[in-house]
Amino acid sequence: MSIGILTSGGDCPGLNAVIRGAVLKGTKIYNQEIVGFRDGWRGVVQGDIMPLTRREIQGISKQGGTILGTSRTNPFDAGGGADVVRENMLRLGITSIIAIGGEGTLAAAKRLSDAGINIVGVPKTVDNDLSAPDYTFGFDTATQIATEAMDRLRTTGDSHGRCMVAEVMGRHVGWIALHSGMAAGAHVILIPEQRTSLDQICTWVQAVKDRGRAPLVVVAEGFTLDTIDVATFERGLDAFGRPRMGGIGELLAPIIEEKTGIETRATTLGHIQRGGTPTAYDRVLATRYGMAAVDAVMHERWGRMVSLSGTTITHVAFEDALGKLNTVPQSRYDEAAILFG
Ligand code: F6P
Repeated sequence: MSIGILTSGGDCPGLNAVIRGAVLKGTKIYNQEIVGFRDGWRGVVQGDIMPLTRREIQGISKQGGTILGTSRTNPFDAGGGADVVRENMLRLGITSIIAIGGEGTLAAAKRLSDAGINIVGVPKTVDNDLSAPDYTFGFDTATQIATEAMDRLRTTGDSHGRCMVAEVMGRHVGWIALHSGMAAGAHVILIPEQRTSLDQICTWVQAVKDRGRAPLVVVAEGFTLDTIDVATFERGLDAFGRPRMGGIGELLAPIIEEKTGIETRATTLGHIQRGGTPTAYDRVLATRYGMAAVDAVMHERWGRMVSLSGTTITHVAFEDALGKLNTVPQSRYDEAAILFG
């Protein structure tokens, strides 16, 4: 009898550290056999597994991506469903699942858990948009990468006297933009939670230029101007039916240039923020989440997700973990706005 682990949805630096933490605790402390489902829910629905012994997880906590592969497959689509999952688990000798994923993955995990399947969850989101955990692994790495990129944009912006616009991830919430923007000394930070007018943006940009500096504008991919209704840029939908994001930086740059007369360039950081080596903070958090997920399985805390409160690893029920976003509070935005212009 074994525990099956899957990674689902967009990848995130730290996934391999979760897997390693879970395998080491599961095998060393509880003498359990652990296996991995390949490519998220696809591996569950098709019964596609790989062994996860000490050998497979050697040295992987510093490795980006996920050794299991990931997908945005929904386990209830295309020949899936709770009965198929149950039959596959029975056939493969798997008695419980650790599902590592974001909102979509955990919503599917909740449905399967409601149908009686033994599942615990591990929160995964670079955007840091789940409300239960104080922090999710991957966010610190993405923020660090974005900050380093902005440090670079500033030197080229300074040389040319240009306004530089940096677009970062953040579909619904602006945590990466807020933290990387503050760290890099950005003059404007635009986030989905705060609709901002073009006039206000150009006033900040102009004030920076008037002081002889090159303005840096950070914009989260989900930001919308106060005159636009939804942040979609006709890039189609992903497998969960969500609009593919990206494009607000390219949209803003020529408008800023036209309104201020300041030459402006846009850079979209995109998936660079999700690739490569996780920071030490993310490796530690992810490892602790992985170990705690195995504890949750051994204590039969089905339908619950491991979480972080301060520095303590806790658990929350799926229903309390889902449906509410961890948005940037007004006070945090107001604090950052003191630095604008
Ligand atoms: O949900 C996390 C996230 O990184 C979003 O910020 C972004 O919109 C999306 O994933 C990109 O996903 P994909 O890998 O499907 O392009």
